[in-house]
Amino acid sequence: SAISRLISAASRLQEICEQPEVLENAMRGRVTNRHSAGSRGCREMAERWPRAPRIIVVACGTSHHAGLIGEYLLENLARCSRDVEYASEFRYRNPILCREDVLIAISQSGETADTRSRRRRSGKSARRLCLGICNTVGSSIARETDGGVYLHAGPEIGVASTKALSAPALVALTLIALKLGKERETLSPEELSANLGATARRCVLEQKGTVYEMAKVFKYASNFLFLGRGYHYPLKEISYIHAEGYPAAEMKHGPIALIDQFMPVVIIAPTSDPNYRKLVSNIEEASAHGGGGAVRARGGSVIAITEEDNHELDAQCEYVMRVPSTADFLMPLLCVAPLQLMAYYIADMRQCNVDQPRNLAKSVTVE
Ligand code: G6P
Repeated sequence: SAISRLISAASRLQEICEQPEVLENAMRGRVTNRHSAGSRGCREMAERWPRAPRIIVVACGTSHHAGLIGEYLLENLARCSRDVEYASEFRYRNPILCREDVLIAISQSGETADTRSRRRRSGKSARRLCLGICNTVGSSIARETDGGVYLHAGPEIGVASTKALSAPALVALTLIALKLGKERETLSPEELSANLGATARRCVLEQKGTVYEMAKVFKYASNFLFLGRGYHYPLKEISYIHAEGYPAAEMKHGPIALIDQFMPVVIIAPTSDPNYRKLVSNIEEASAHGGGGAVRARGGSVIAITEEDNHELDAQCEYVMRVPSTADFLMPLLCVAPLQLMAYYIADMRQCNVDQPRNLAKSVTVE
């Protein structure tokens, strides 16, 4: 009914808006001062496998998206070889694993059947270390793994995960990668952990007004393309609108053919991205850098996310969502909230039930 739809919309907005606080909870006691990063769980995780040849992250749904960002964190900060797998696929494959490889299962509920099953098959029986990143205390995955980190996001009502997975899972992955980087002596975490503390105190939700106006314009779109590079290409959100997250540089190998005035493109283009100039060339009408895809030249509507003090994109984009400046690897923590708000406003304007999208369950405990 209309009333239950309204109640659901309000609680979903609340969960999105709680994220700065949830982010701080995820860091509390884990970033104690500028010289230390890591909770006991993060520390134990990293200490037990400083020399693991490979880390394999298994997860489903939104947790898998967090894992995709973790892939870049583990590679860049910890210099680890890593793979991120859909648990539902991985469980039926016959992967080549070493005894010393480490599995990390990410799950908000800790009950997802596919994620649990993978732990049972390639972790316990093979005596391979398996760790969990979970939100639900005492859940099956929390009990069945050899150790891990809780997200401390509190109960999450919305079926599509927002507050539990976006910021806290990324915080956990960042802390593990930082800690592991230190163990491997590839990185000095001092400066970075100071940055992490500052990030938690930055407001990620200042863009509500811009995002609301943008949602009014794009609520009738049937497709969205989300482009980014590195840490940002896995970010995307949906509101019964087909959406694809794509590495920006791959656009010229396919999706560029789809771009026209009916396909809005969201480009996550922080200046901290080492490939920022390449992202600009994706936006510019005439690419000065020889990049493949000039979205505007093909009549597409471009929405950008960038730092609050960067105005270079203003003239070329229909809307610009702004986030505070921070280190490149912390940017996904900030960019995810405006994207969730965008999905929320569009879904609400389309009168969708944002807490309980059709055909979806909060926790999928069957195959
Ligand atoms: C379901 C939910 C998703 C969630 C996924 C994985 O499909 O609808 O929102 O991301 O399960 O759940 P987990 O609890 O393992 O993170």
